[in-house]
Amino acid sequence: MDYPAWIVGGVGPGWVIGLIATFHVLISHFAVGGGIFLPVTEAWARKNNRDDVIDFLKKFSKFFLILTNVFGAISGVGIWWAIGLISPQATASLIRLFTFVWAAEWAVFLVEIISLIFYYYGWERMKPATHQAVGWIYAVTAWLSLFTINGILTFMLTPGGWAESGSFFQGYFNPGFWPSLIVRTLVCIACAGIYATFVISKMDEKSKFRKELLAYTSSWLVPVYVLLGLSLLWYFSVLPGPIMESLLSGISGGVGAAAQGNMMVVSRIALLCLVATVTTGLAFFVSAYLNPREFTIRKSAILLASIAIFVTSFEYTREMLRKPYVIRDFMFSNGVPLKATMEQPLERSFTKEMRFKPKDSSLGEQMFVGQCMSCHTMDGYRSLSKRLSGRDSESIYQLLLVMQKSPEENPYHKVMPPLIGTEEELRALSDYLYESIKSIEKEKGYTGSNAAHAASH
Ligand code: HEC
Repeated sequence: MDYPAWIVGGVGPGWVIGLIATFHVLISHFAVGGGIFLPVTEAWARKNNRDDVIDFLKKFSKFFLILTNVFGAISGVGIWWAIGLISPQATASLIRLFTFVWAAEWAVFLVEIISLIFYYYGWERMKPATHQAVGWIYAVTAWLSLFTINGILTFMLTPGGWAESGSFFQGYFNPGFWPSLIVRTLVCIACAGIYATFVISKMDEKSKFRKELLAYTSSWLVPVYVLLGLSLLWYFSVLPGPIMESLLSGISGGVGAAAQGNMMVVSRIALLCLVATVTTGLAFFVSAYLNPREFTIRKSAILLASIAIFVTSFEYTREMLRKPYVIRDFMFSNGVPLKATMEQPLERSFTKEMRFKPKDSSLGEQMFVGQCMSCHTMDGYRSLSKRLSGRDSESIYQLLLVMQKSPEENPYHKVMPPLIGTEEELRALSDYLYESIKSIEKEKGYTGSNAAHAASH
């Protein structure tokens, strides 16, 4: 614990990152997709002398200008703020491990947004060949921005051989790198294609132009969806054994009590991802491609929503599968490095290692802030008042003792980091939890018995 903690109540810190990151990921996938869709379609239109399509693209590119340069850029900075405040240890590690990659990311994004500005304002002002060239620069840098960050994102879930060798290249080009790059590239293309379909579906239903454009976008989307389904399977297949085990156990109903409810949700969401892919692909083929006339704006809005749901579920699954780690096999979500739990006894003092402590905090609160707060709130998201309701201080202490045991005797080790702390600190934490829960229940007017009742739900 080398950094001060940001105490977030309510939804908890995880959701602060989650909300900002989901927003950013959605936008960036649309933005990268637009980077590919616009110049490719421009090239097609120029080759076929389709001025009407060029006119369409001129208007269409404005959306991507605003999306990328305003919302993409702002939410990207938002992520830095959020992760820097909430997971400073992990953020610092990622910066140290991948300094050069971050610099490269910054450089390609800079070129991406500048070329996009030239692309949008250059429609009337540049020669077609120059405009097209700017378009290709925009396409390549947009995709490179995905390429660069992809290595870091996948590293956090599947660091592979890096855990032993410490090699930069093994960490960056980790087992998840290629499947994830392909899944994401396809998702980007799907996002831009679906958004184009959405805009096109607003045109006059009888126009030939609308029909042609719909056929054009479907010819992008149908193969993209087929490939997406396959590459998702590839992606899941490179996940390490323990992750796959928990994913599958959620479907089959195995795993310990603590993990089960959790993993059930993850497994279902992962399944939802797969099902959403297949149905959206089919829906495109049947409606937009075969029956363009009947492809209403309502239908296209549903498909637009489906890709948003896909992206959100994919990110959520990835985050959840990483539990209890923030960087797998290296650092737990609460910022404690794996090494620190393996090389020294867990029964040592934790709070002595904290360089910053919340002002006027008790020993128990320090333990909570340092080791539980990254995943639990007291009374909001994944609340401990619900999970520990009906227990007295001694019974909470017994549970904490289990969290300190070796993996064989600790059913929680798959979802929670091992607990560091002396007996005194564990006692202080259980007292703190017990007292906090009691006052929360009092505030809400629970009595002992209906609190226990609430816990059983
Ligand atoms: C890496 C994230 C993470 C950290 C850190 C963490 N937990 Fe958990 N905890 C989970 C998850 C995930 C579950 C299982 C799913 C659920 O209950 O939501 C869980 C479940 C629990 C449960 C319910 C157990 C059961 O049998 O149902 C308790 C109690 C609990 N945690 C207490 C704590 C305490 C106390 C700490 C701090 C010492 C802590 N957790 C730290 C993620 C975490």
